[in-house]
Amino acid sequence: MLNTNILIQTVQDYINTNLNIDLHRLLLKKSPFSEVSMQEIVQQIKGKQVAQKKFPFLLQEGIIFPPQLNLEQSSSEKTAVYKSGLLKGKKFIDLTSGFGIDAYYLSQNFEEITLIEQNPDLIEIVEHNWGVLGKKATFINQKLEEFLDQNQEYYDVVYLDPARRDDQKNKVFLLEDLSPDILEIQEKLLSISKQVLIKLSPLIDLAYLVSILPGVFRIDIIALKNDVKEVVVFLSKEKAAEIICNGVNLESGENTFTFPFGAEENAHAEYSEPERFIYIPNNSILKAGVFNLIAERFDIKKFHPNTHFYTSNERKADFPGRILEMKVIDSKQIEKKGQFNIISKNYPLKPEEIKKKYQLKDGGNEYLIFTQSKKGKIILKSI
Ligand SMILES: C[S@@+](CC[C@H](N)C(=O)[O-])C[C@H]1O[C@@H](n2cnc3c(N)ncnc32)[C@H](O)[C@@H]1O
Repeated sequence: MLNTNILIQTVQDYINTNLNIDLHRLLLKKSPFSEVSMQEIVQQIKGKQVAQKKFPFLLQEGIIFPPQLNLEQSSSEKTAVYKSGLLKGKKFIDLTSGFGIDAYYLSQNFEEITLIEQNPDLIEIVEHNWGVLGKKATFINQKLEEFLDQNQEYYDVVYLDPARRDDQKNKVFLLEDLSPDILEIQEKLLSISKQVLIKLSPLIDLAYLVSILPGVFRIDIIALKNDVKEVVVFLSKEKAAEIICNGVNLESGENTFTFPFGAEENAHAEYSEPERFIYIPNNSILKAGVFNLIAERFDIKKFHPNTHFYTSNERKADFPGRILEMKVIDSKQIEKKGQFNIISKNYPLKPEEIKKKYQLKDGGNEYLIFTQSKKGKIILKSI
């Protein structure tokens, strides 16, 4: 049951003055309010802390935050905004609402919105918050499998962000290990909508996905500041002639590398020793495994079959990743006690070990790359 006493001004003032306090300590204290427990207060403080980074749009009066697990399971505002730009229609349904961050944004270009959530406390919080935000929807507290059994409606978009089933918080990446089990319900999902979007873990294997879900027509690998956050798979009833993949990085703007699924199989990379410019692909592209395709598309050469660094003499400004101007150096040329961003890939020593060996400090504007070309181990330094 929702305890709306946490919204009383004196309680909110207490929460706001304790936003940066040690929460373990606070939990040991007695709540100064008879109607609100210290646990409830700490839950709100945690919620506000997470919201500052993940969903700042909820930092306003009247919003109630759920327990930490529900906060962790939520999408970030930025990835949700990206997805919302891809969708439009009349009817939208989110079958796994959770804290409703995805649903809030993804439904922006829709007239009728339905949210399903099995957790009664959570959907109550979402309904309350959406009221505060002035956003209308139908909120249904039900297992989605039951809902699907009774449903007679047709939707333009069905969205799912399944929860991980294992309590151990082990990283699970098989569809059968998720709740709901997508394989069990996929046929039904495709019979009630034009388009089904499913958000999955970045650890999911793309070839596995395509092999197991016959309706896939698009896959987006979405990174936030080069950290891959989600893989979103788009399904429809009609079989697509080609599956489009997008490696997306949301940083100051949006950078997307688009390619057909399977294109890597026929792509070839040429190899070279480092030339003037060095290219480090965005992580969403590395996740997609299009190591040769990226070389072909940008007319750049690879260092080594297992080294995903690329090089050219001309600058390819559109490259989706970092572009550094560098030169090969001898280990003796490394300035002791110097400050560098250290990258080690396909090299026997880890960055920590390199730092120790050469007495280096982390950070600054200059880079040192330790890696291998076809000729052997090499070290590169920013010019
Ligand atoms: C990962 S969270 C969704 C987070 C959401 N996308 C957001 O951005 O806030 C998954 C949610 O699905 C709900 N869920 C899992 N299986 C379900 C089922 N069979 N029926 C209804 N809800 C389910 C869980 O209770 C959980 O709240």
